[in-house]
Amino acid sequence: MLHAHIALDREFVKASIDDRLFGSFIEHLGRAVYGGIYEPGHPTSDADGFRTDVLELVRELRVPIVRYPGGNYVSAFNWEDSVGPLEQRPRRLDLAWRSVEPNKVGLNEFARWAKKAGTQPMIALNLGTRGIDAARNLVEYCNHPSGSHWSDLRKSHGAPDPHAFKVWCLGNEMDGPWQVGYKTADEYGRLASEVGKALKLFDPSLQLVACGSSNTKMPSYPQWEATVLDHCYDTVDFISLHNYFKNHDNDLPTFLGESLDMDRFIRTIIGTADFIKVKKRSRKTVNLSFDEWNVWFHSHQADEVVAPWSVGPHLLEDVYTFEDALVVGCCLITLLRYAERVRIACLAQLVNTIAPIMTVNGGPAWRQTIFYPFLHASLYGRGEVLESLIRSPVYENRIHGEVLYLESIATWNRQAEEATIFAVNRSMTEELLVDGRIAGWERVALVEHIVLAHKDPKAANTKENPGAVVPARIDTTRLVGDSLQARLPPLSWNVIRLKVRGAGSYK
Ligand code: AHR
Repeated sequence: MLHAHIALDREFVKASIDDRLFGSFIEHLGRAVYGGIYEPGHPTSDADGFRTDVLELVRELRVPIVRYPGGNYVSAFNWEDSVGPLEQRPRRLDLAWRSVEPNKVGLNEFARWAKKAGTQPMIALNLGTRGIDAARNLVEYCNHPSGSHWSDLRKSHGAPDPHAFKVWCLGNEMDGPWQVGYKTADEYGRLASEVGKALKLFDPSLQLVACGSSNTKMPSYPQWEATVLDHCYDTVDFISLHNYFKNHDNDLPTFLGESLDMDRFIRTIIGTADFIKVKKRSRKTVNLSFDEWNVWFHSHQADEVVAPWSVGPHLLEDVYTFEDALVVGCCLITLLRYAERVRIACLAQLVNTIAPIMTVNGGPAWRQTIFYPFLHASLYGRGEVLESLIRSPVYENRIHGEVLYLESIATWNRQAEEATIFAVNRSMTEELLVDGRIAGWERVALVEHIVLAHKDPKAANTKENPGAVVPARIDTTRLVGDSLQARLPPLSWNVIRLKVRGAGSYK
């Protein structure tokens, strides 16, 4: 058995958590939209053609913000195609995913879906094939109440009230040679600055996200961020980060350490943004929007043989294993650790394409393994992050160096009077005995210890067996006074919920 220690204290609050840390992403890609959120004729579909079984699962996740409509898709997207009478909308060839886009779901339909799902859209602009003019028209169409060409057009399209979309992404992965309209950092930085300027002239309260690097392996990383922010620092509010994790070599200890790459990435971008802040003698701080993150590799081979030019093809349909859920859990802990600066994060994506929710066309919807850590973090990780001191044994890893067996963070929700310890035991063989010191509250009680564990790291939830990997409660956890003892099974995601009341007195 391994031993570790955690100390947390009501007095040491690290940061408030922006609810948007639990955001997600819907792209016009594969079956995310067609066969995912939208399937007219499905037994559960409502009058708008939205699958209510999917809506229920999305609502269960309490996702506060959903990025839309891409992704790579957005870089050749003509937003005008996606509005107006359905029968007049064109079928287009989407070059990013080599699919046919029927434009049956567009901006107004997505806004309606988002309301039903209890979420807010985060709209990405096309800065690949288009620029300032299309962007300013789109923002007027979406957000202006009435009395102008584009706002009146929206009203004539059956959307009388402005959508009031707050967060806008200035393009997508513009550093990537695969992107339609890919740019150098100088070209993109200038364009982002000018598009941002136009949007802020329309409404200074809009929040704008500039594109950072597509991942940490990009040759231009992290000079890209420095150059881009040098151009648009004064205009934008966020710089984006994207990263996907893989277990190509079937090397679990390395895979479980992938969140360390996310950690380094975040620290590098905080440093880069703050370098530009000082260079510009600015009083403003640009925050981080980690608006694409997940495990993604299972579907790569299958995607190579998908025939082009169909509607809603089976693309990026990763079937997630239990070990993927552990990596997602470690990533959520990492995002919470940097909650002070990472104010938005989007699990990419939400339905069918690299997603926590899977469907069969005409059939059921179910929760993939990664649904659960995301659900727990979204439900119990709101409020504030506590400074959590951790002492844990480590293992040596050829890629990541020293990796802690215990990955953990604690949060405090004052309103709910709850503190939660999220913890992953990375050991494949050993139970981890955690001694915790919970200080500062008058009364502390254990609510429950939820665990996601499985003897087979490759276990997955499928249509045939949707309940193969599900969380359970364990009753071996003890709390005596301010002293916690918890046993974390080998390879496990843990959520230890505490009721915390009053302020204890310090002697
Ligand atoms: O999420 C899938 C794709 O990954 C997105 O379209 C793109 O932005 C990223 O490369």
